[in-house]
Amino acid sequence: MEKDTGVPETRLRLRMMEPADIAAAAAVERACFDSGWPATAFERELLHNGAARYIVLDDLGGAGIVGFAGAWLMLDEAHVVTVAVLPGERRHGYGRLLVQGLLDLARALGMTSATLECRVSNAGARALYRGFGFHEVGFRKRYYSDNGEDATIMTTGAFDSAAFEARDARSRENLAARFPGVVLAVPEAVEPA
Ligand SMILES: CC(C)(COP(=O)(O)OP(=O)(O)OC[C@H]1O[C@@H](n2cnc3c(N)ncnc32)[C@H](O)[C@@H]1OP(=O)(O)O)[C@@H](O)C(=O)NCCC(=O)NCCS
Repeated sequence: MEKDTGVPETRLRLRMMEPADIAAAAAVERACFDSGWPATAFERELLHNGAARYIVLDDLGGAGIVGFAGAWLMLDEAHVVTVAVLPGERRHGYGRLLVQGLLDLARALGMTSATLECRVSNAGARALYRGFGFHEVGFRKRYYSDNGEDATIMTTGAFDSAAFEARDARSRENLAARFPGVVLAVPEAVEPA
């Protein structure tokens, strides 16, 4: 019998992506991006890119992997490479859980800030990132080769700044209230090869 921890059971798990998740993650990727990565790209990232860390949000109650997020650890800066949530599962706060999990992981691994590029037209993603203190610091002209769209460059600034810490505490409180029982800190799993 399960020990009663006083924490409500939840069917959501935030955890490191594992090789066994690659097919499911590639399916989420294809559903989310026109120029989706093939499964081999995930394989390369997970198994051969020592700087890459990917997490998944697993809905054990049904849909399985509903989203993932990944970052490259570049010296002391986390570069957020991707965040994706299945179209049918959006606006439930899963994107927030993933970004919180990724930032937690980055901090736990010694990163001191995070940065990313985002399509200027992607208002939803930009709003999501702004909620975590990312702010715009510049543009990369014609960054996306499929349509020549510009990227906006967003950064959190220092994780240990008072502004970031306050926002982080609020975000954790909100997520803990909205998703009781979901463990926000993603434990670092097996080191990539
Ligand atoms: C961006 C993405 C990950 C958001 O996932 P999500 O699970 O829907 O996000 P959440 O439900 O946690 O939303 C958190 C907040 O982000 C903002 N947001 C998310 N989607 C939005 C949208 N379509 N329009 C406006 N704001 C949006 C809102 O502020 C939202 O809070 P609210 O629902 O309380 O208003 C998802 O839309 C996605 O996978 N898009 C395709 C892939 C992509 O563009 N990734 C980002 C690449 S840079």
